[in-house]
Amino acid sequence: MPAITHIGLKPALERVASEIDRHFDLLLTVPDDPRTRLYQAMRHAAIGGGKRMRPLLVCAACDLFNVDRDAALRVATAIECIHVYSLIHDDLPCMDDDAVRRGRPTVHVAYDEATAVLAGDSLHALAFELLADEATHSDPFVRIELVAELARAAGPAGMAGGQAMDLAAETETFDLSTTTRLQQLKTGALIGFCLEAAAIMGHVPPDGRVRLRGYARDVGLAFQIADDLLDVEGDPDAVGKPLQKDAAAGKATFVSLLGVDRARQQAGMLVEQAIAHLSNFGTEANLLRAVARYVVERDR
Ligand code: IPE
Ligand code: IPE
Ligand code: MG
Ligand code: MG
Ligand code: MG
Repeated sequence: MPAITHIGLKPALERVASEIDRHFDLLLTVPDDPRTRLYQAMRHAAIGGGKRMRPLLVCAACDLFNVDRDAALRVATAIECIHVYSLIHDDLPCMDDDAVRRGRPTVHVAYDEATAVLAGDSLHALAFELLADEATHSDPFVRIELVAELARAAGPAGMAGGQAMDLAAETETFDLSTTTRLQQLKTGALIGFCLEAAAIMGHVPPDGRVRLRGYARDVGLAFQIADDLLDVEGDPDAVGKPLQKDAAAGKATFVSLLGVDRARQQAGMLVEQAIAHLSNFGTEANLLRAVARYVVERDR
């Protein structure tokens, strides 16, 4: 099988998507006991539909450092577990109260709220179980670094903290720098983990990680600006989730603060900046460059 870095963006996204689906299918075998509903809810949320952009980032970055492909896919599945859990909880009535996700009913609608909370909890735990397993990496120091890094990225100094700020943005007025911080935590932290994890598994020394962190920071911010632009002017059928929610909730976003045109300009500039961080890599980083462009060009 050719390295994923040399097959182009579309086939790479398709390949990663089918590999992630296969991993979830194996991990989430439905037991013949009263947990059936929980596992079915987890499968409903995790299998099919998403862009799998975070797993692609893990795999594309792992290829730069010749990380074993199975190990990369296990880490890619772990980050997708955290992402899917964050979406299940984000859609709950106590948060964004959304009924459609990835073109399908959200978990609390297809099942019930308690099952949705538990499906999220379970995917959260499963992520760390995957990372801590010897099959992910033979070196326990690498495994603990992965676990610590994902915990930081998912917790109050990362995604969960950003979600708390996002809720506060409905009632408080945030300026551009606070909004940037919010987006960096809410979306940027998990995207940052994808690149950091590849560097950890590739034994890249800390000073060699600076450029990858710069790339991740810019891509993460551009990604959330694109999400906010889609919320304003996307096609709900293509995006697969209800739109025009942010303005209705009175939420400060880059789009509400800068307007559509300047927000799009800002996202484009961040993409160029992200690509510039990869200047010390050759064609082996072309897939990461393509992902950066895709982040703002996507229609879903
Ligand atoms: C949506 O993420 C939530 C944000 C952090 C903006 P994605 O746009 O990656 O959602 P899926 O995984 O493709 O459904
Ligand atoms: C959610 O942001 C981000 C996380 C789940 C961490 P949004 O609320 O903007 O995501 P969508 O638009 O519902 O996908
Ligand atoms: Mg939200
Ligand atoms: Mg939401
Ligand atoms: Mg959104």
